[in-house]
Amino acid sequence: MEKKISILGFAGSLRKGSYNKALLRAAVELVPKEADLETFDLEGIPPFNQDLENNPPERVKEFKKKIKAADAILIATPEANYTIPGVLKNAIDWASRPYGDNAFDGKPVGMMGATIGNLGTARAQYHLRQAFVFLNMHPLNQPEVMVSAAQEKIDQNGRVTDPKTREKIKELLESLVTWTRKFKSVER
Ligand SMILES: Cc1cc2nc3c(=O)[nH]c(=O)nc-3n(C[C@H](O)[C@H](O)[C@H](O)COP(=O)(O)O)c2cc1C
Repeated sequence: MEKKISILGFAGSLRKGSYNKALLRAAVELVPKEADLETFDLEGIPPFNQDLENNPPERVKEFKKKIKAADAILIATPEANYTIPGVLKNAIDWASRPYGDNAFDGKPVGMMGATIGNLGTARAQYHLRQAFVFLNMHPLNQPEVMVSAAQEKIDQNGRVTDPKTREKIKELLESLVTWTRKFKSVER
């Protein structure tokens, strides 16, 4: 039997009632049997300070370790002022440094996003794709999971209740696993 694919997921929001954390929780429920999805909360990651990049705070060390150990990454991003939130960018910046020790290097990555707005984080996701170029990540192109009017699809308990959204998340995970296996077969 092939080894399970390990996925590390994180959301670009610290909010308890975050819709993007809700997407990640749904992903944990929907992940295919041949994969494991562990989530990491960005709470506790301080603002980036390059003076500390060679010996970063413990929470950053922990984050980088988990990224490096994972076969693939899953990011749930909100949209803030037409781009990715500072919380997410800040965490990415820490994990990409110091130069030569980019924890994301060569990792396949899938993304999804939820907003109360109409465009389902499309602008944020395309900005995130731009960062993947320099991070040397391998983003999955399809399906795109862009959840608009999230308040109608996620209930008061933070559960994704909309069947179409759940289906899309499931499809995304299945595609991410297939995509990741392609890279692993090249490695062998
Ligand atoms: C500072 C700020 C800027 C925002 N800008 C956008 C935006 O540009 N586009 C959008 O669709 N939603 C925007 N929103 C709404 C967020 O997408 C929405 O609050 C979402 O629920 C945040 O994600 P979370 O629920 O995971 O915390 C903004 C929210 C905040 C707080």
